[in-house]
Amino acid sequence: MTQETLLYTLPGMRDLLPDELTRWQFIEQATRDTFGRYGFREIRTPLIEATELFARSIGQETDIVGKEMYTFLDQSGKSITLRPEATASVVRAYAQHAMYRGSGTTKLYYLGPMFRHEKKQKGRWRQFYQIGAEVLGSDHPAVEVETIEMVISLLSMLEVKVQLLVNSVGCSRCRPQYIELLRADLQRLAEHLCEDCRRRSVTNALRVLDCKVESCQPYIEQLPRITDHLCEECSTHFDLFRKHLTMAAIPFEITPRLVRGLDYYVRTAFEIVSVDLGAQNALVGGGRYDGLSEVLGGPPVSGFGFAMGLDRLVMLLPEHLSSRWVEATDLFLAHMGERAFGRALELARAFRREGFRCNIDLAGGSLKSQLRLANRLNARHVLIIGEDELASGRYLLKNLSDSSQLRLEPAEVIRQLRMPVTGHHGAPSDEGA
Ligand code: HAM
Repeated sequence: MTQETLLYTLPGMRDLLPDELTRWQFIEQATRDTFGRYGFREIRTPLIEATELFARSIGQETDIVGKEMYTFLDQSGKSITLRPEATASVVRAYAQHAMYRGSGTTKLYYLGPMFRHEKKQKGRWRQFYQIGAEVLGSDHPAVEVETIEMVISLLSMLEVKVQLLVNSVGCSRCRPQYIELLRADLQRLAEHLCEDCRRRSVTNALRVLDCKVESCQPYIEQLPRITDHLCEECSTHFDLFRKHLTMAAIPFEITPRLVRGLDYYVRTAFEIVSVDLGAQNALVGGGRYDGLSEVLGGPPVSGFGFAMGLDRLVMLLPEHLSSRWVEATDLFLAHMGERAFGRALELARAFRREGFRCNIDLAGGSLKSQLRLANRLNARHVLIIGEDELASGRYLLKNLSDSSQLRLEPAEVIRQLRMPVTGHHGAPSDEGA
């Protein structure tokens, strides 16, 4: 292997650099604020769990478990997996720490990386980031609507235009009968379907509904709809869910083909999509997963939640909100000469203690290159420190938004920096400095 090949990230992985991360941090802060208002509290679970936790919860026949997990044997020969999602981990943590003790629901949220060895395509990463929320302990549709309302209110605050798609995937009582019907029809239509659909007809018939292959579409449209084959309880649940959505004034579209790529869902399943995302248009996916805890050996508990792709959300943030995430430097200290450099360091220390974001060119370039750096750092003010300033104890403070300048003592500089700022028009040139 040559040295050069070590200087690249692995396929599907990427570095997130400071300029880009300001958007991420802006979304993360908005998430914490919004979710906090709904009573959700953060949970952090390990990035690695026992392979069996995901295999059993997500389902052996799913794409995720079948071909996308990063699974290894550790030093003791135990099979471990980098988490492809976090719902199973949250349910495990809930049971492990007996969080069901006490009354009411438990509302948890998480932010962090997930890992799936996906085929390379736009909008899909092998290390990607999710913001997710889970509510444990209630089977009421009002919980579903409150949780959906929370994510929609976050998205509308971020001015991201989306559409809510909902469905019911039934339960362990009505779904098997529906799948029988589906299988019978799929057998009849087999010769018209793609290879994946034919395989899934046997292994995971519901997933056929999710096929995107053009030539399959007319046949899939003929298949029975799950919403016509729900048991009475599931049907009542779905009615009540829609009623609560309407009461909350949340527009939605019923999508009978929405089945999701994980096996643990019962009853309500939903997605939030964006037309601006192209083929990978799903921004949020979620649903109800009553019974998942028991599958993992835990107590019976109802669950509902969602996860949102942060990588995708970042792409949708409208540029006109940028002033809310651009990181500004309050003061850049430009220095000329060795003595001025020492004074600049001293002053920066004092201004930072006062709470200002200060920066200095420690590499010590010309005034021109220091001002270029000030510009790149989005500085609001530059303080110029030269021999004259050292002699008089008054420094030249340039306001970069209106190009005004004042000669001030350090205490006056602090007062000036505390004044409200206007827009940023770039750093001045060194002429006349
Ligand atoms: P999911 O549909 O597999 O659900 O993923 C949720 C979201 O994560 C997707 O809608 C998408 O935005 C994002 N996502 C998934 N894979 C990738 C990828 N390779 N690259 C970029 N973004 C991706 C779950 O993970 C469930 N745990 C959701 C849930 C929580 N259900 C109940 N509670």
